[in-house]
Amino acid sequence: MSILKIIALLNEKGGSGKSTLSINIATALHRRGEKVVLIDADPQGTARDWREASPENADLPSVVALDRPELLLSSIKAIAANWVIIDTPAKAERMSANVIRIANIALIPVQPSAADVWASAAAVKLVQSKIDVGGQIHAAFIATRVSGQTKLSKEILAGNWNEYGLPLMATAIANRVSYAQSLSDGLSVFDTTDQAAKVEIDALITELETKGWL
Ligand SMILES: Nc1ncnc2c1ncn2[C@@H]1O[C@H](COP(=O)(O)OP(=O)(O)OP(=O)(O)O)[C@@H](O)[C@H]1O
Ligand SMILES: [Mg+2]
Repeated sequence: MSILKIIALLNEKGGSGKSTLSINIATALHRRGEKVVLIDADPQGTARDWREASPENADLPSVVALDRPELLLSSIKAIAANWVIIDTPAKAERMSANVIRIANIALIPVQPSAADVWASAAAVKLVQSKIDVGGQIHAAFIATRVSGQTKLSKEILAGNWNEYGLPLMATAIANRVSYAQSLSDGLSVFDTTDQAAKVEIDALITELETKGWL
């Protein structure tokens, strides 16, 4: 089996888009024929609820619930997959610290508002503390629920992200009804007619590949 790659979605800020992105990234990789497991590390259980809502025979990755930080690594080692996507909870430093310890890639979803950017400091700190002790991890912010129209969106996206310690992915995720609708239907944007949403999730994966992170 090929090497296991672990992508973590984290941000202490609730509602930043962690579950939505986890689900769509996991589904995109799954539909490319990869062996993907989506780990629901959030006791809230969004990814579990999502999968339970899925129609029978839907072509989606399986979801495994792991909400004990101390069992995370041993449980993941037992999973037969070459991709693990981890959806983490808001406000759960112990879980997030354990996830960062094992992740190859960390994506921090941020909505384009100053409050959301400030609230991502805890996630940046966790990534930084792994790097400080010689750990290897690729990490970036990803803008979510972007409304290209607003001046604030534009200002924040054009800002100096390196001052927050990490780069911003060039691919931004727009605010689209298809994300919310497909999630509640137990499906992904790849199951909708929203081409733009499919294109941006594919672009995100291509960007990760181009960076040499995947
Ligand atoms: N790109 C988007 N366009 C439109 N709605 C979105 C988008 N991303 C997320 N949402 C909606 O925003 C809400 C929060 O998203 P999500 O559950 O993914 O965030 P989260 O970070 O996982 O939240 P929590 O911290 O509670 O786990 C959901 O209702 C979701 O449908
Ligand atoms: Mg969530």
